[in-house]
Amino acid sequence: MVSPLRRRLRRALLGAGVLVVVVLTVIAGGVAWVWSTADISTVGTTEFTRPLTIPPLAASTVEPDGTRVFTLDIQSGTTAFEPGHEAETWGFNGSYLGPTLRANNGERVRVRVRNQLPEASTVHWHGMHLPATMDGGPHQMVEPGATWTPEWTVAQPASTLWYHPHPHGATEDHVRRGLAGMFLVDDAAAAALRLPSTYGVDDLPVIVQDLRLRGDRLDGAHTAFRDVGFLGNRTLVNGTLAPYQEIGDELVRLRLLNASTARIYTFTFDDARPFALVGTDGGLLERPATLDRVQLSPGERAEIVVRMRPGERTVLRSDRLDAGLDFWANRFAGGDDTFDILELRAAPTLRESPALPAALVPASTPDGSDAVTERRFDLAFSGINGAKMAMDRVDTVVTRGTTEIWAVRNVDGMPHNFHVHDVQFRVLDYAGGAPPPALTGPKDTIFLAPGVTARLALRFDGPADPDTPYMYHCHLLWHEDLGMMGQFVVVEPGQQAGAPPGHAH
Ligand code: C2O
Ligand code: CU
Repeated sequence: MVSPLRRRLRRALLGAGVLVVVVLTVIAGGVAWVWSTADISTVGTTEFTRPLTIPPLAASTVEPDGTRVFTLDIQSGTTAFEPGHEAETWGFNGSYLGPTLRANNGERVRVRVRNQLPEASTVHWHGMHLPATMDGGPHQMVEPGATWTPEWTVAQPASTLWYHPHPHGATEDHVRRGLAGMFLVDDAAAAALRLPSTYGVDDLPVIVQDLRLRGDRLDGAHTAFRDVGFLGNRTLVNGTLAPYQEIGDELVRLRLLNASTARIYTFTFDDARPFALVGTDGGLLERPATLDRVQLSPGERAEIVVRMRPGERTVLRSDRLDAGLDFWANRFAGGDDTFDILELRAAPTLRESPALPAALVPASTPDGSDAVTERRFDLAFSGINGAKMAMDRVDTVVTRGTTEIWAVRNVDGMPHNFHVHDVQFRVLDYAGGAPPPALTGPKDTIFLAPGVTARLALRFDGPADPDTPYMYHCHLLWHEDLGMMGQFVVVEPGQQAGAPPGHAH
């Protein structure tokens, strides 16, 4: 016979067991729900109802000494991404994004940057070779109401560069609200190639971003398990939701810029048509490469040339990410998401385009054969080479006029990329092999899958400034904000690094 005490004990144990099972079921159910709602697709359901906005070319004046002068006002405003819903946004000379700046190689440029926001920001010229004090990183803060006037001489080949804020700890927020624009560099070598080059007609800026709208506001919240940072559920091109663009030429050049804060796109067309990749971050390739997809992580650019047939339509799409992430990391990094991004609509008759040349431009990046040193950079969410960014610590000192090899490795299970200010580098190898076509041109930002090492050759042509650092960092902007960033200075041979200020200036 069972005693009443043991009966009570057994009942209590049974009760506790049931409670554990219920709690575990609720947790598992919650995780399963988050998992199953974490992938997003706009493929096949997107109606392309809005004409693509083409950012205006920035007005400029030319001083008697030949300096081209631009003005950028950083301001807040409202933008109706959807009719009837005005969201508060930030922009340059407008309420969202900014005009396209354009200058020739060799030209002197000056930009009057006026900050009309209620908080400090900066403007960084991503991909531009310029003096460190003009770079617009976290050491060149522009206070509310202040004007900052950098100037430099453009000294690099034709390329699709861009500009965006870089305030330490707030870059994701400032870019996501709308602060970004293109900076195109032109030169005679590129002009002679007769690539499609009529801006807004057969040469289109394609600034791709993701966003999340909640009624009348932009939602910047990071959802569950999103350790890459902010991911939106819809895409914009040049600030337009679900845009289409009429095409009147047989060949059209798309200057793709991933200006998203964390999302990685795998650009392809809905009919998987091949296209010619002609340029990467810092300029044209030596020869066009035929591809049917190109992956761009935040900050990267690709110039592609697409052939259209009269009367047809095709959709620029982003496909699933294939980067060797495990299934959990892939889903929560947005790697299972797919988007219909931009519809191209060809006119019934098209203007004939000159054929693409077989050869483009000679390589402008170093091949690493004269490298004076090889350094290692281990990238992790917790920092680069084990350290988080510190404003008053110089991590790396390079000598003006020398070439170095940087071996950059992703030691995490999550995706990262690596951007270096001031230089365009050559990718010598990626994951132990020759770089794929999309990594053969000049690069300033490179995606690194988990476990992968890339070796880069970089040449530091100066000018030297031992006191003002340039940055290198992960361009997933939340990672950058959290400190996945380091500082380097360029010094004269034998010179020591100075001491940068510990606070933002
Ligand atoms: Cu596009 Cu350091 O940034
Ligand atoms: Cu990262």
